[in-house]
Amino acid sequence: MELYEAMSTLRAVRRLRSDPIPDDVLDRVLQAAAWAPSGGNVQPFRIVVVKSAEKLKTIQSWYQQEWDRYIEPLRSLASSSDDVAAVNSGKIVKAGDYLANHLAEVPALLVFCFNPAHMAITDADLNRPSVVGGGSVYTAVQNVMLACRQEGLGCVLTTLLCYQEQAIKQLLDIPEQWGTCAHIPIGYPVLKGHGPISRRPVTKLVFKDSWGQPLEHS
Ligand SMILES: Cc1cc2nc3c(=O)[nH]c(=O)nc-3n(C[C@H](O)[C@H](O)[C@H](O)COP(=O)(O)O)c2cc1C
Repeated sequence: MELYEAMSTLRAVRRLRSDPIPDDVLDRVLQAAAWAPSGGNVQPFRIVVVKSAEKLKTIQSWYQQEWDRYIEPLRSLASSSDDVAAVNSGKIVKAGDYLANHLAEVPALLVFCFNPAHMAITDADLNRPSVVGGGSVYTAVQNVMLACRQEGLGCVLTTLLCYQEQAIKQLLDIPEQWGTCAHIPIGYPVLKGHGPISRRPVTKLVFKDSWGQPLEHS
């Protein structure tokens, strides 16, 4: 698949079939993670591939709890009018409900772990939430999702399970010094899967020389 086509159609796919993923396909997806750049090339991440039906069931119950808590305030908003934003929120709510109800059935859940002791977190001492460390993990996350796109697999980056980090760590025997920062269910899509995405135009996101100044090519 052409790279720009893959990137511009890489949308969140939350309805996933339970059909198994062939080992060679999963291996290629995981290889893509290993190719990702990281600060100092340290690769301070590990991935636990959860396939155990029993463990997935337990994780689903935690996800369901966090999803309900997150989505409750948005539920009434999504059904309050028929404007474009509300319709889009309604779609996300429905797809999100589906994932929360079916997470245990996915053929694989990739749990991304990171070790902050292996990272040079250059914004750690600033008076704001630190984000730099994540840059050494989310490059691998994005590579995985692009590889899924290439392989015809659906996937969605989720983070709600971070609220349940201690429980997840215990369930998956993740060592004390490691944290979790992304949980990606992957599987073949129930519906069409990936497709058109809706994003702000580049002109709203990119400036030239000074904040707010449009990038105009001479
Ligand atoms: C950091 C991050 C955290 C996310 N967490 C969740 C999540 O916990 N559950 C979920 O259903 N989607 C989650 N998403 C998916 C986003 O909702 C989705 O990427 C966004 O709405 C755009 O959707 P689209 O790609 O289908 O247009 C997350 C995405 C990102 C980048």
